[in-house]
Amino acid sequence: MANLQGLSDKADALEYKQMQELGDLVIHRSAINKLADGEWSDGTEFKMAGPAPALMGEDHRLPEMPEKPSLIDFFNFRFAPSKQHLLQSAALARKNGLPEKMVLACLLHDVSVIALFRPDHGYWGAQMLEPYVDEEVSWAIRMHQALRFFPDESVGYEYPVAYANWFGQDYKVEPYVQRDYEEARNHKWYMSARMICVNDLYAFDPDTQVVIEDFEDIIGRHFKQPEEGLGNDNSPAAHMWRTIRRPASAL
Ligand SMILES: [Fe+2]
Ligand SMILES: [Fe+2]
Repeated sequence: MANLQGLSDKADALEYKQMQELGDLVIHRSAINKLADGEWSDGTEFKMAGPAPALMGEDHRLPEMPEKPSLIDFFNFRFAPSKQHLLQSAALARKNGLPEKMVLACLLHDVSVIALFRPDHGYWGAQMLEPYVDEEVSWAIRMHQALRFFPDESVGYEYPVAYANWFGQDYKVEPYVQRDYEEARNHKWYMSARMICVNDLYAFDPDTQVVIEDFEDIIGRHFKQPEEGLGNDNSPAAHMWRTIRRPASAL
């Protein structure tokens, strides 16, 4: 904890100093961010940016990342504090005796919600992780999104009460969610995706703080960390990690 507090203090000090240094750099927000704010149009024509210099590359308002960032660095320097949901899910999975590979799946199941996009988070998360984890892990992460909406009495999984509150009693899933649920239901790895849901459901505890370092051993054995750093490699998902590292880069 002391270590984390130190990191947090350092990050705060750094953020303050570097906010001052950002000067007049213009930040060009990505279209997806504007759309999410309900801003559909910023004019009818494509315009080149004005003469003011744009922020390109590292965003010094955010904590500085090592040159060759690891998954743990992304947890510490980019993933939002709500990552505690991931950490607690993984801790629960470990307590419940799941295999290490599945503890990793629980640790990363909502990585897209925490760091990238909420819509279709299972699909985005799976794509981010595919080059670095066992195929079963990324498949389970993709499919947990659909399975969350469907009960399975055999493992005591019920439709989440929270979903009824958030989406309404009459909420019906989109056709692709129904389709993917049916595909997953008959798949050899069905229970792996289902186990994410089972360990997801009771994972929030405001009195518990789990740290990523608790999973260093499991990450070491089951996450294929590229030597050159996540994002510096040339995997099909490297660009996604670079975007999380430098989310405001103009291009
Ligand atoms: Fe999820
Ligand atoms: Fe979750």
